[in-house]
Amino acid sequence: MSGETFMLTGSMGCIGAWTLRNLVQEGVRVIATDLATDPVRPAQVMTDAELARITWAKLDVTDLNAVKQLVAAEGVTHIIHLAGLQVPFCRANPSLGAAVNVVGTVNLFEAARAHWGQVRGFTYASSLAVLGPAKYYPDTPVKDDVPLLPATLYGVYKQANEGTAKIYWQDWQIPSIGLRPYIVYGVARDQGMTSDIAKALLAVAAGRPYHIRFGGPVGLQYADDVAKMFIACARSGYAGAAACNLRNDVVDVGEFVALVKERYPQAQITYNADNLLPFPYDLDDSGLRSILGTIPHKPLGEAIEETVRQFEALIAAGRIDLRQLDA
Ligand SMILES: NC(=O)c1ccc[n+]([C@@H]2O[C@H](COP(=O)([O-])OP(=O)(O)OC[C@H]3O[C@@H](n4cnc5c(N)ncnc54)[C@H](O)[C@@H]3O)[C@@H](O)[C@H]2O)c1
Repeated sequence: MSGETFMLTGSMGCIGAWTLRNLVQEGVRVIATDLATDPVRPAQVMTDAELARITWAKLDVTDLNAVKQLVAAEGVTHIIHLAGLQVPFCRANPSLGAAVNVVGTVNLFEAARAHWGQVRGFTYASSLAVLGPAKYYPDTPVKDDVPLLPATLYGVYKQANEGTAKIYWQDWQIPSIGLRPYIVYGVARDQGMTSDIAKALLAVAAGRPYHIRFGGPVGLQYADDVAKMFIACARSGYAGAAACNLRNDVVDVGEFVALVKERYPQAQITYNADNLLPFPYDLDDSGLRSILGTIPHKPLGEAIEETVRQFEALIAAGRIDLRQLDA
């Protein structure tokens, strides 16, 4: 679309990489920001020519002035805020976790507020971790507006961001949409326990065995679909402060493994059926559906095949570090 300049934070992460890819392939001008400067993950999902079309900028989201200046200087029209520290990092360093995840998000809202008009769309990454253990949510599918009872600092920080979003709408009419992914999988998903779904597919491509450390029913979202959701939300013109559950594929890890083995009979994937993730999995995504109309969703089987094909190509080209399978 003409006249658009997207700015991403957390561009070097998995969802960031896929969001960049989608925008670049559409021909949109994109400013890719992150604290990190080596585009390892973007390079796993884009060609060198595509990477060259991106404007890269080092940006620490805790630096309010730098965030505001960049939004002004680059004429940013849409913000997709993905930067954040994950559960173990927040646990290991709560102050830094709060600085990046909470203050960093306030800073992005401040930049949007300072330049609203020029900026016309704002989407940020919340997380399913804003919800508490599944036992607190007996009514299923679980709606967007249930009580938030996060059980980790990471979840508390994401909850704070959803609260921040509501007040920016209430006090200054800065609209936003927060998305709550559960397990994102695809090429470039390589950190944290829930990356085991993606790593199992890397192992298939590499001809190696792999053990998924959890089992039971989970919600899976393909990284490419999630990227498309962030982009569509930023363009939606939504007036309000929505925080939306994602759904897409709700499957047992055993069913996921069976789907993989149907396609790749040589696959050696096992899983721990006794280790259940604590989150509710039966999520109602009608809030997001009412904003977007149609939710991007590649069928699980197709996404598995696409991911294995991409991993095979990366392995053949020597563009992926297989040591992540040993972690
Ligand atoms: N991947 C999932 O399954 C999942 C699930 C729920 C929510 N989320 C959320 O979605 C967002 C993106 O997820 P991801 O998996 O791509 O994350 P990721 O951890 O791969 O990437 C996050 C990025 O943020 C950057 N970052 C850290 N501190 C920063 C700072 N001070 N300034 C600027 N950048 C900084 C990191 O360098 C990294 O590139 C995160 O906010 C995450 O909490 C992800």
